[in-house]
Amino acid sequence: MRVETRRPPVPQAGASANRAGANSGAEWRGGTTPQPKKAARIYLTDAQRQIDFPTGENTLSISRAAGIWTMTASDINLARYSDPEVVKHYVGVEGLQRSEAYLFDKYIPSGAAVLDIGVGGGRTTPFLSAKASAYVGVDFSQGMVDACAAKFPALEFHRADACDLGRFEDASFDVVVFSFNGIDYIQSDEARARCMREVNRVLRLDGRFFFSSHNARSLLVWPMLRGATPVQQVWRALLAIGRSAGLAARRWPTRAFREGKGYLVDPTEHGVVTFVSTPEVIAVEAGFAGFRVDEIVNGLYPENPPAIFTPWYYYSLAKAGRPTLPPNVKPPIGWQP
Ligand SMILES: C[S@@+](CC[C@H](N)C(=O)[O-])C[C@H]1O[C@@H](n2cnc3c(N)ncnc32)[C@H](O)[C@@H]1O
Repeated sequence: MRVETRRPPVPQAGASANRAGANSGAEWRGGTTPQPKKAARIYLTDAQRQIDFPTGENTLSISRAAGIWTMTASDINLARYSDPEVVKHYVGVEGLQRSEAYLFDKYIPSGAAVLDIGVGGGRTTPFLSAKASAYVGVDFSQGMVDACAAKFPALEFHRADACDLGRFEDASFDVVVFSFNGIDYIQSDEARARCMREVNRVLRLDGRFFFSSHNARSLLVWPMLRGATPVQQVWRALLAIGRSAGLAARRWPTRAFREGKGYLVDPTEHGVVTFVSTPEVIAVEAGFAGFRVDEIVNGLYPENPPAIFTPWYYYSLAKAGRPTLPPNVKPPIGWQP
């Protein structure tokens, strides 16, 4: 089935903040079943093409030629990551980010059993599998899994959702990686908490979880001037100014920016619905799931610009003995230390 987003979503009754507007114009492909049910709350501005789900409403209303359909946001992300063009893109992406190289070198011992979630086209596979005693890659996109299996026939890959790692025993890994902001494509706060608990479950005590998450407070683009010639520096600075204008115009009006947490459509990442956060938000979620935060590295490492220039942060968590509640945080309902 093909669901098109060319026509503007119609404002839903009861969603007073809505405005009708054009979506990204992309076509979503995949096995999405339209569900003509509850109204999604969409905070959409025409020019910015932002969909701002403050709490992860998990539904998104999309117009179709003959009417209005409702589909879940996670279906959209799965459809995007199942698109052969997107799969091809990730198969072609190679090399570790410097932040990853730094964290993996520092914290992953030789002989670790490694689970690589959201493995995509296998960018991290050669590095993580090289010194592992066991390596398994999983992704919720069958296209990504098939591409990895073809690229690395000697290694193990499965289709699995990060929120349900039921195929793996408790305490069966030393290291879990969800690289390149993959955790941000989980579409509700509840589902992300489930993912964190699942990762905690499959890790051994003191095992490590590495992931990155987009910075909700990112507003400007940092010019990467290191190692550039003077001419390149001028060009990169101009480019950064131009891109900053676009990013600031999109991000500034959003609730996610103001509150330091929320769900936005990312036009630079195939139009997927993306969670954005701050280190404070992640620290609370990690504590609830039974992790302690050991280190946070700027996504632009070794550069360390201020938060408004930081696109994402890389987190190194360790499985602690029990869930923890950071100081000054109100306990959630049902909290049992
Ligand atoms: C931004 S890509 C990164 C791919 C790869 N890790 C890399 O760094 O090149 C995010 C990946 O996470 C996968 N993904 C997103 N949500 C997922 C989920 N809930 N469970 C498993 N994989 C997921 C996507 O299919 C995609 O392959």
